Amino acid sequence: MAKPRIIATRKLPEAVERRLKSLFTVALNPSDTLFSKPKLIKAMAHADGLLCAFGDNIDAEILHAGGARKAGIVANFGVGTNHIDIEAAEDEGVVVTNTPDVLNDATADLAMTLILNATRRVWMHETRLRRGEWDGFDLTSGLGTSLRGKTLGVIGMGRIGTALAMRAHFGFGMNVKYYNRSNVYVSAIPEAQNVDTIEDLMAQSDVISLHVPGHAENHHLINAERLALMKPTAYLVNTARGDVVDESALVEALQSGTIAGAGLDVFEREPEVPEALKAMENVTLLPHIGSATLETRIAMGMRAIDNLVAYFDGKVPPHQVV
Ligand code: DGY
Repeated sequence: MAKPRIIATRKLPEAVERRLKSLFTVALNPSDTLFSKPKLIKAMAHADGLLCAFGDNIDAEILHAGGARKAGIVANFGVGTNHIDIEAAEDEGVVVTNTPDVLNDATADLAMTLILNATRRVWMHETRLRRGEWDGFDLTSGLGTSLRGKTLGVIGMGRIGTALAMRAHFGFGMNVKYYNRSNVYVSAIPEAQNVDTIEDLMAQSDVISLHVPGHAENHHLINAERLALMKPTAYLVNTARGDVVDESALVEALQSGTIAGAGLDVFEREPEVPEALKAMENVTLLPHIGSATLETRIAMGMRAIDNLVAYFDGKVPPHQVV
């Protein structure tokens, strides 16, 4: 029997491409050029399955693209599926899968990196040093904020939120409070306090870190009103999705001193980053690298392949979203 045909929309880690090629008839994308919408529609018409990632906007038009569609599975290389129209996929009977868990540590590590970077003003100090603006050791300039005894507010205490909370609490002595839409008991940190509203959490925290999915219900979850509730000494960290934060409101809050600083790995209109943010010394900016370690990306790719293998074996994929 002919092997199923898989089209990979992005360049993949070598080990992942190797395994994919051993199992399927594969069209790879070595140049990593983003597929246009017509190219995605064509790919769905010619492949049995699509292996895609954040950046590929698999919208309703692509999923409903007439009788020509052949692909029965969209295997996402990543945990977030906000770039895929899940309802349209469900309507069309297209299976969507993702790659949870294996990126928890890498993403939590990066969120902790942003917290440390922001509160210790690492980026500002390094930039000044590289510009030749360091006159020597002194006792008072550019002081940061200590984390021990401060409160981390986690919005979305799921797998990544919990991994971050563990690092912050056990590694850095922070108190942990969190807000969840549904109640999740975090047995790993018995002292962690569940706060009833986002408003209360914003007001009580020294660092707010976002770990909610980027679906429509979370669009601009952090808006001007909620930012205004934060302490002027507090920091906002986002490793979730850019549009969870109203970026213009954040710029305004940072410029006016409503909050002390931010650490951002994701943006509303990636890869566009507002010039206003780039100009600020109290903001650390990273190019969406939460899961970007070689080990993690290989594990994510293998998980995406496991989903494809199960689907073509007639089984329910281990990480099926719909
Ligand atoms: C994820 O897995 O959701 C990462 O943000 C990359 O898409």
